[in-house]
Amino acid sequence: MGALTFSAPASATARGGFTTKPTAADPYTYQVGFGNRFATEAIPDTLPLGCNTPQRCKYDLISEQLNGTPFVSPRASLLNAWFYRIQPSVAHKPLRRLSQSTDLEAVFSPLNPNAVFTPQDLGWDKFPLPTDQETVDFISGLKTVAGHGDPSLKEGLAVHIYSANASMKNKAFCNNDGDMLILPQEGRLDIQTEFGRLMVRPGELAVIQAGMRFSVKLPDGVGRGYIQEIYGSHYELPELGPVGSNGMALARDFEIPVASFDVDQSRWTIVVKLVGQLFAYDQDHTPFDVVAWHGSYAPYKYAMEKFINSATVDRDQSDPSIYCVLTAKSKIAGVSLSDFLIFTPKWSVTRNTFRPPYYHRNVSTELMGMIYGTWAGSATFLEPGGLTYEPSYMPHGESYERWKEATSIDLQPQRIGDASMAFMMHISGHVSLTKYALERSACLQPIREDAWDDFKPGFLKHLDMIAGENEHTDTPSMLNGSANSTTGIPTEPYTNGVL
Ligand SMILES: [Fe+2]
Repeated sequence: MGALTFSAPASATARGGFTTKPTAADPYTYQVGFGNRFATEAIPDTLPLGCNTPQRCKYDLISEQLNGTPFVSPRASLLNAWFYRIQPSVAHKPLRRLSQSTDLEAVFSPLNPNAVFTPQDLGWDKFPLPTDQETVDFISGLKTVAGHGDPSLKEGLAVHIYSANASMKNKAFCNNDGDMLILPQEGRLDIQTEFGRLMVRPGELAVIQAGMRFSVKLPDGVGRGYIQEIYGSHYELPELGPVGSNGMALARDFEIPVASFDVDQSRWTIVVKLVGQLFAYDQDHTPFDVVAWHGSYAPYKYAMEKFINSATVDRDQSDPSIYCVLTAKSKIAGVSLSDFLIFTPKWSVTRNTFRPPYYHRNVSTELMGMIYGTWAGSATFLEPGGLTYEPSYMPHGESYERWKEATSIDLQPQRIGDASMAFMMHISGHVSLTKYALERSACLQPIREDAWDDFKPGFLKHLDMIAGENEHTDTPSMLNGSANSTTGIPTEPYTNGVL
């Protein structure tokens, strides 16, 4: 008898669309894509075909629409979803106002005494986790550090830190102010949404859009991270331009939950945030009772290690926009509200190039945070869980030591940023800082008065040589005059009153 042989099938057909497989760190399954219209059902045949609101849905499910754009929107930007759920969301008790957290801000006007506008660049060490004596969940652990604009105008954004040590129990959150881009830095977030479940680890981002109800558990016991909340806009993938149809963040690498529901008739509390104020309502059923859904307005996550870096491979360096994962439009045509950039490991290969970030002053404000690793990107100190702030038009760049090293090193292909991940929120509006960030966070770094005192202008030591080389022209005397004047410029030390 001969050995068993297997012949290739003559044909095969997929049994369904692609979904991811669970891993040790993430037990959930996801659909993939960005901007798709997704369709998913936890019980077969519960999505109606050919219509959205049949007279009676299968198994007496309730049809309900949620949209993230007005009905009359350009088709390309239209975002909505249809739920097929056990009970309608409207079945709840009346709302009540909750006592306000002093660390939550939403309106960043100069008229708000808790919003401080300053052109002073600043840094924060890692934001503290709750102590063992406290019980802090994702909602009570939200602390606003910066922002601009106003959610009542649907214009602007807020940047928050979350720091928590307790899971939300029979409690969900619904942010009516904006879409939240959530960046865990310590501990995974097990996020249950009306659309299904997402497990989000440090190194991944999650976006939960406005009006969606979700609940956060902390499978690792603690959770700390960053949130950028945008008002009146939605995150998009940036245009690719001459890059072509591939590269940067691939649409296929975004993961969207599949339908998942609980049968749960216990008491739930839904906390609603509106213009930074918290309200709550109770209901005798879980909000996570969606058996099937379809649509384009859906939460997602993305593993930022998958970002495909592109850069110059010849000389000079690209602007940091090449690290843009997601962008959101402002109300000014052609101006983004915020570009979200990440800095992940890459090769640096340019020749005859000052390879670190060039000295610059930007129209935008830069808020930088770090997920893991070490950062050597500028003179500002940044550690995982910390933050730096470079306000609009204020100059920043490398320390003298870094400049010396970068201008004298033999440039060889070099791997940079291994085992590290940092990010930047590149925000077009003037960004104010909150009293929490400046006074209560207890991690604001002191301003270094002497930070730039040792920056030696190398040009000056060349003056004699320049004079010699130009002795038959008028240039030397002008140069000497300029040089002398530079030695006498008084430097005014930083004093109080900037913040
Ligand atoms: Fe910068």
